[in-house]
Amino acid sequence: MPDRAAALALLEEWVDNEALRLHMRSVEAAVRHYARLRGADPESWGLAGLLHDLDWEKYPDTHPVTAVDHLREAGYPEEVLRAILAHRPDYTGVEPETELDRVLYACDELAGLVYACCLVRPNGIDDLAPKSVTKKLKDRAFAAGVNRDDVARGVELIGLERSEHIQNVIDGMRAVAEDLRIRGVDVRRD
Ligand SMILES: [Fe+2]
Ligand SMILES: [Fe+2]
Repeated sequence: MPDRAAALALLEEWVDNEALRLHMRSVEAAVRHYARLRGADPESWGLAGLLHDLDWEKYPDTHPVTAVDHLREAGYPEEVLRAILAHRPDYTGVEPETELDRVLYACDELAGLVYACCLVRPNGIDDLAPKSVTKKLKDRAFAAGVNRDDVARGVELIGLERSEHIQNVIDGMRAVAEDLRIRGVDVRRD
């Protein structure tokens, strides 16, 4: 199985947009956290998070099929490829069924919302609580690109209370907050 360094090299090669790279790394962090919580392998699960939007910038019309074709050639595990396909079931026809499929689906849009919340708070992710994220979730004008229906479906798929799922995503992202540049010292504009 290709390692994280190889996956990061792919990300560098395929994705120019800094915000998209940070999104992919946010989802990686959340999915890795779930792997730890559920006794799965954080390395393989992390790859699904890190690479799920690999082709979004260059091949939006065939996302994520183009990326998955490439990743299959490169020797990535079927479990990872399947989860990447299942994060966009309407396009690929692959429904989120395995535990990794469901975790990736549930973390994708929500990580985007959590990231957006961090950027508008003086302390970034440092003291972010699920309550604030829920408030922003209900405010559809905030981070309007985040699909609220997808977030709701993710909560159903993951089988937890919404606030617990939000807390898990926050915990995962907080663990690498420095890399994601969402600590208070990163987002504060004086
Ligand atoms: Fe995507
Ligand atoms: Fe995504």
